[in-house]
Amino acid sequence: MTAPAAGRTVRVGVVGVGVMGADHARQLSSTVPGARVVAVADVNGARAQQVAEQVGARVADDPSALIGSGDVDAVAIASADATHADLVRACVAAGKPVLCEKPLAPSLTETADLVGGIGADGVRLVSVGYMRRFDPGYAELREVVRSGRYGQPLVVHCVSRGVSAGIGATSESSITGASTHDLDVVPWLLGVPIVEAAWLAPRQSREAAGLQDPQVLLLRMADGVLCTVETYLNARYGYDIRCEIVCETGTVSLAEPHRVVTGTELASRQSYWPDWRGRFADAYRLELAAWIRCAGGASPPTAPLATVTDALAAAEVAEALIRSMARGGGFVSTQQSESGPVR
Ligand SMILES: NC(=O)c1ccc[n+]([C@@H]2O[C@H](COP(=O)([O-])OP(=O)(O)OC[C@H]3O[C@@H](n4cnc5c(N)ncnc54)[C@H](O)[C@@H]3O)[C@@H](O)[C@H]2O)c1
Repeated sequence: MTAPAAGRTVRVGVVGVGVMGADHARQLSSTVPGARVVAVADVNGARAQQVAEQVGARVADDPSALIGSGDVDAVAIASADATHADLVRACVAAGKPVLCEKPLAPSLTETADLVGGIGADGVRLVSVGYMRRFDPGYAELREVVRSGRYGQPLVVHCVSRGVSAGIGATSESSITGASTHDLDVVPWLLGVPIVEAAWLAPRQSREAAGLQDPQVLLLRMADGVLCTVETYLNARYGYDIRCEIVCETGTVSLAEPHRVVTGTELASRQSYWPDWRGRFADAYRLELAAWIRCAGGASPPTAPLATVTDALAAAEVAEALIRSMARGGGFVSTQQSESGPVR
């Protein structure tokens, strides 16, 4: 693995500087120790120029030029989902550590091809942006449940709601792009893989055009725990992420972080984040800092950074859910097993 000399700043190139990539560039240049954004690339040149000026970086001619640049030590990828696999391959070919946003690829076949093709040396270079693992709330949930303090977990309830779906969202991309966070974080919380998955469609929201929204997913874990996942991209009222783990003698839930409650005019009011950037700001910062530590030390991704193996596991469940959707619902076996990738 190529790495800067010990103690040297890691010089990062960011490919794709839309909503997520611009936020990563901002965090890397202002809140992450040991990192400096030196180059950005985006097919939207004006956008690239704007973000480059904000973070004091240059605009690379294209992603290949950025990845091949001698002054770029490591690459963060936050371009469109369908571009991830080829960009990751290019980073691996250049021997550069890469943090690729989820999903690693839009389908299981493409994910498996990528993971199989980059070999063990490539696997050591790639981290995947499943940042909920770094959220202090999820980390505390994991610690409490795994302590056994309230007995065994029995049921998990997950809710992921957003204000409005991105342009071009489909019923399938709702699973591969949004539910994928829950498909990764639930096995990570419990330390147990998902063995069966079922897709269910409630009444369709009139606010959602072109896709089934909301969707309800049922996940059966290898130890019998049952998990519900509601994914609702067009919930309108705010960005709202919930997770409750019901155990034998107690229940543990995420609390909404960094929010205040305002009391006025005989009413109590709490605001929601408009999107993921505020809700998960700490998680992104901690994830990027962990990635920079690994990249700077030439070490493979260390837990809780997600690996390509973790991304493949989530892709297997997403594929099972899309198969369930295609036949109108019902449980479908995933390819995960108890000896699978869950850490
Ligand atoms: N981890 C998370 O919580 C999280 C949250 C949001 C988005 N994401 C992921 O981040 C990625 C970007 O999402 P977004 O919401 O910022 O989308 P976006 O559309 O705002 O930004 C994507 C950017 O990539 C650029 N782009 C597209 N193809 C490119 C290419 N081949 N080369 C260079 N630039 C290219 C676009 O011009 C755009 O500026 C997606 O993969 C998405 O799944 C992750």
